[in-house]
Amino acid sequence: MQVVTTIAALRAARAAMPEPVGVVPTMGFLHEGHLALVRRARQENASVIVTIFVNPTQFGPTEDFAAYPRDLARDLALLEQVGADLVFAPEVAEIYPPGFQTYVTVEQVAQPLEGARRPGHFRGVATVVAKLFNLTQPQRAYFGQKDAQQVRVIQQMTADLNFPLEIVVCPTVREPDGLAMSSRNTYLTPEQRQAAPVLYRSLQAVEAAYRSGERDAGRLRQIALDVLAAEPLAQVEYVSVADAATLQELEQVMAPALVSMAVRIGRARLIDNILLT
Ligand code: PAF
Repeated sequence: MQVVTTIAALRAARAAMPEPVGVVPTMGFLHEGHLALVRRARQENASVIVTIFVNPTQFGPTEDFAAYPRDLARDLALLEQVGADLVFAPEVAEIYPPGFQTYVTVEQVAQPLEGARRPGHFRGVATVVAKLFNLTQPQRAYFGQKDAQQVRVIQQMTADLNFPLEIVVCPTVREPDGLAMSSRNTYLTPEQRQAAPVLYRSLQAVEAAYRSGERDAGRLRQIALDVLAAEPLAQVEYVSVADAATLQELEQVMAPALVSMAVRIGRARLIDNILLT
């Protein structure tokens, strides 16, 4: 496995890679969710590139950019085990040199949900992912369903900007108690960690009601809110039942619908979702 930190070295290594190439963009501090993406990329491509870059432009001024967990040595050891061929781990100035002034803005699908609570977040995501696509020239790029709106934003950008690659969306990887894996789970104290599976429990309650025939989106939202309300450590930011393609809130559920939520537990802001199909 080769590790590079500069664009020049990345381009040279990429040029020598057997095709097709799969890329897994990450912000590091890897967990099983990331490793599942790399394993899938390994199965489907001749070469696998993993990028590790904590992207400052997708963090708001009061968010956790400085505190975001980082452990490059551990990440590299894990990536070696799952068979990545090339790791690109640049410094911030390599991606955003002095004078940088070009950003990618995806419109409608970036506006609700996370976009409404984290202004500028998806502009940062779309910009860095567009740059990583340009730099790595993959045939396939792998993302987790856990960040459902991010997936929609990247799909839209890929189509609108004619990137010649396939976006592969992989299922959310969960802890045995249902908590979706996330690098930010590390912020949870033991007591908060015990409370955190309430997100998935509330999603499961919505799914069960949907399976029993409930189609009223307001009632489905309320079912999730009731489960979350029973956990005193959970502070709900939003619960959404939206069209899975447009991300606009629904009154009546017509599949496929995305049920998504953001909930603060302690200093961790957790997001999770399920698709109703
Ligand atoms: O999902 C993430 O880890 C990041 O948002 C991504 C896609 C690597 C862009 O920085």
